[in-house]
Amino acid sequence: MSPLVVRPESPQDGPRIERLLDESFGQDRQARGVYALRAPDRHIPGLAYVGVDTTGQVQGTLRFWPLQVNGQNNDQAGDPAAVLLGPIAIAKAHQGKGYAAILIQRGLSDAAAFGYGLCFLVTDTPQVYRRYAFTNAQSRFALPVDLGPKKSFLLMELKRGALSLWPDGAVLGAVA
Ligand SMILES: CC(C)(COP(=O)(O)OP(=O)(O)OC[C@H]1O[C@@H](n2cnc3c(N)ncnc32)[C@H](O)[C@@H]1OP(=O)(O)O)[C@@H](O)C(=O)NCCC(=O)NCCS
Repeated sequence: MSPLVVRPESPQDGPRIERLLDESFGQDRQARGVYALRAPDRHIPGLAYVGVDTTGQVQGTLRFWPLQVNGQNNDQAGDPAAVLLGPIAIAKAHQGKGYAAILIQRGLSDAAAFGYGLCFLVTDTPQVYRRYAFTNAQSRFALPVDLGPKKSFLLMELKRGALSLWPDGAVLGAVA
């Protein structure tokens, strides 16, 4: 299997990314609760990556979405408050080779460089994220939707001290 090259997403990747996400999560994926945190077409262009094979075909995708905390896009320091990591998907033939790890590392590093304070994610495979400093967000932040019992709701600080800027029970929302 040829290796994948990671590069920033470009507008022409959109249709292939949608197909890959449908294959990975099902065509009904947009009914999932986490989509309440993703305003349509509002993912962050500078935090969107693809893995492409030697023919240029997209075989992996990672996007991030901006989040509001308690209705605010920015924290007290004026930095963007938070991002939602995902969806992430790697085509079946390319799984288990470390590509998700490469995409996640790149995305978290770029999000921190952009000044985002917190990164959240919702997953049923928390093992994929265990190498990063994610902790349980359930006890600290509230969501506008019920995610169901099987989902892990996780967070990590991208900016030191960002967690202390928000009160317990602060509510996350999509940036429309
Ligand atoms: C989950 C997914 C993105 C992982 O991609 P990948 O490129 O195969 O992952 P990597 O090879 O980079 O593995 C990263 C780590 O996650 C672990 N991992 C990967 N897939 C896993 C799974 N389904 N369950 C548990 N752990 C998993 C790996 O063992 C590895 O951990 P390690 O380095 O400690 O051994 C891919 O399987 C996929 O697209 N699945 C369908 C869509 C999906 O479930 N997306 C994630 C939703 S949050």
